[in-house]
Amino acid sequence: MRPGDHAESSGQVPTASCRESGTVEAWNERYATRGMVWGTEPNRFLADYATGLTPRRVLDLGCGQGRNAVWLATQGHRVTGVDLSPVAVEQARRLAADHAVDVIFEVADVVEDWTPPPGAFDLVVLSYLQLAPHDRRVAHAKAAEAVAPGGTVWLIAHHSDNITDGFGGPQHPEVLFEEKALAADFGELELSRNEKVFRDVEGEDGVVRVAHDLLLVATKAAGPDG
Ligand SMILES: C[S@@+](CC[C@H](N)C(=O)[O-])C[C@H]1O[C@@H](n2cnc3c(N)ncnc32)[C@H](O)[C@@H]1O
Repeated sequence: MRPGDHAESSGQVPTASCRESGTVEAWNERYATRGMVWGTEPNRFLADYATGLTPRRVLDLGCGQGRNAVWLATQGHRVTGVDLSPVAVEQARRLAADHAVDVIFEVADVVEDWTPPPGAFDLVVLSYLQLAPHDRRVAHAKAAEAVAPGGTVWLIAHHSDNITDGFGGPQHPEVLFEEKALAADFGELELSRNEKVFRDVEGEDGVVRVAHDLLLVATKAAGPDG
């Protein structure tokens, strides 16, 4: 087990439909009643990718309670986090204060009312922002628009086969991702990774099981000046 492994698969609301469990009210309720739902450590795959990266402008879309945004800020990056849930954003601001780092946090619905500043970020992070197909395509198009020429979209998500072959995560197939859909979403970027990765997760019963995730790394072509 590694930091951040414990809780990434918990926090689900099994009886709710994906629409019900994806509302701002449902996210607020989850965050207000369950503490730091995904812990305070960064996602392990993000830590593997971003450790040692030179400081850059980073956007974390669907930043939740800020574990990734705050960790990135501790690594010297200039970070902006956006999330639907004001409760999560308040918790993220507190986490940033606890770590004595500055992060710009914004409450916004990435699909409905957030406008991407074109080319404003060198790295756009999406960590388990699991949306149904139409919303997923909108959010991913905005992520691609926000990334600067030469910059990177880095995404981790629950894989479609996690329901049958893996553990935890949302139990609604429509919000799970598979490689073909992501390749289409980020078709204008160059994909260096778009593949399944595996994560040990400890359930509430203390048993460690394997979650199936999907990791994508996609780079926007550099402009004429390189
Ligand atoms: C599974 S959590 C992941 C949080 C964080 N990225 C992490 O890895 O710890 C998904 C987050 O996406 C946010 N979210 C869901 N739909 C959203 C939307 N349309 N716009 C912005 N945030 C959204 C939720 O509020 C929630 O915090």
